[in-house]
Amino acid sequence: MTETQVQTGFGRMARRAESFARSPWTFIDQFLDLHEDLIYFGNGAPAAERYPVARLREAAAASWQAIDASALDYGELKGYRPLRNWIAARMVEQGFAVTPEQIMITFGSQQGIDIACRLFLNPGDLLIAEGPTYIGALQAFDAYEPEYMQIPIDSEGIQIDLLRAGVERSGRTPKLIYVIPNFQNPTGVTMSEERRRALVDLAEEWDAAIVEDDPYGEFWYDVPPPAQLRKLSGRVIYLGTFSKTIAPGLRVGWMVLPEQLMPLALMAKEASEVCSVRTVTRTVHAAANGFLDQHVEESRLFYGRRRAAMLDALAEYMPDDVRWTEPGGGFFGWVTLPAPLTASELLPVAARHGVGFLPGRFFYPAAMGDDRALRLSFSVLSEDRIREGVRRLGDAIRSAQSLQ
Ligand SMILES: Cc1ncc(COP(=O)(O)O)c(C=O)c1O
Repeated sequence: MTETQVQTGFGRMARRAESFARSPWTFIDQFLDLHEDLIYFGNGAPAAERYPVARLREAAAASWQAIDASALDYGELKGYRPLRNWIAARMVEQGFAVTPEQIMITFGSQQGIDIACRLFLNPGDLLIAEGPTYIGALQAFDAYEPEYMQIPIDSEGIQIDLLRAGVERSGRTPKLIYVIPNFQNPTGVTMSEERRRALVDLAEEWDAAIVEDDPYGEFWYDVPPPAQLRKLSGRVIYLGTFSKTIAPGLRVGWMVLPEQLMPLALMAKEASEVCSVRTVTRTVHAAANGFLDQHVEESRLFYGRRRAAMLDALAEYMPDDVRWTEPGGGFFGWVTLPAPLTASELLPVAARHGVGFLPGRFFYPAAMGDDRALRLSFSVLSEDRIREGVRRLGDAIRSAQSLQ
């Protein structure tokens, strides 16, 4: 089965519809029932144990108690004011100069990516992203038909010399630069402070906007990451979210926008969402207030143990010629296979051994990128399952190599 087979019966659809016909999950799902007890490292959601269900129930009850008819009307396009105040105060505490006026509540950070595209991309515009990058961002970008330039990352993040050389070679200047500087999805790599400074300097030189997508910045397990790009430059659109710190099903995130972009971003949001989700934002405020810092601190310990389990197991079970990143936080590790083995070839073999993952090529446009690597998410699996899953992966790699 390929990833692109959808027949609609309509012969005159938009060109962009083709991008929505591709689904990584169609490819991956076909392997997941090859083993009755498959350990799946493909799920990048938070752990179910970390969803603060009781706190959310209480917060929902209290916030609904205070809701009257006026709060159920259209309105609050920018988002519930007390929540924006709360986010701004917390970011200021973390050393980030931001006011509630610069914050717009979004339907998760995914909507922030889409709004940035709406404001900046015409078909064919040059878009810079890390290679590999977040699948959902590629899905959002595809609809705007940019020309992609993906720049490889190393242990310090996006490689600035390759970025400069690539742009010079193309003879064009990028309009939008999309990066995940902290504990990147999918590699777990964090951009160094030096690269952050160099990146904002290049954006200045090119008159480009940067989208700084930061769902994992609070989940550091060794030391906090360097200063956000938004602290270094006014050209940065910062995306935050409650999806990882509280729960993704709430669909509440935020954008920190340069002042001059705010009126346009509000209208771009109104065009798709009309107003913000007024009830859930009240619940999120009531839940987060006086709770989130402690919750995040506990989450750091919780996920830190899972990260350690994955790294220990990789050291114990991987064949000598396999390499992997050592994430300092976030949910992901990135494992590079020895040539000529590819992750898509390995997946069916691995599934028969009882382990699944996302092959590297899906983190590139049209799933056409480097397939030498694979992503392991350690967030949802217990330490025992992580250990057993990595053991099975080691066996699967040896078995696939012996078949070549
Ligand atoms: C890098 C990155 N950006 C955005 C998102 C989507 O987050 P949200 O649920 O806030 O839309 C994810 C989710 O996995 C992600 O990894």
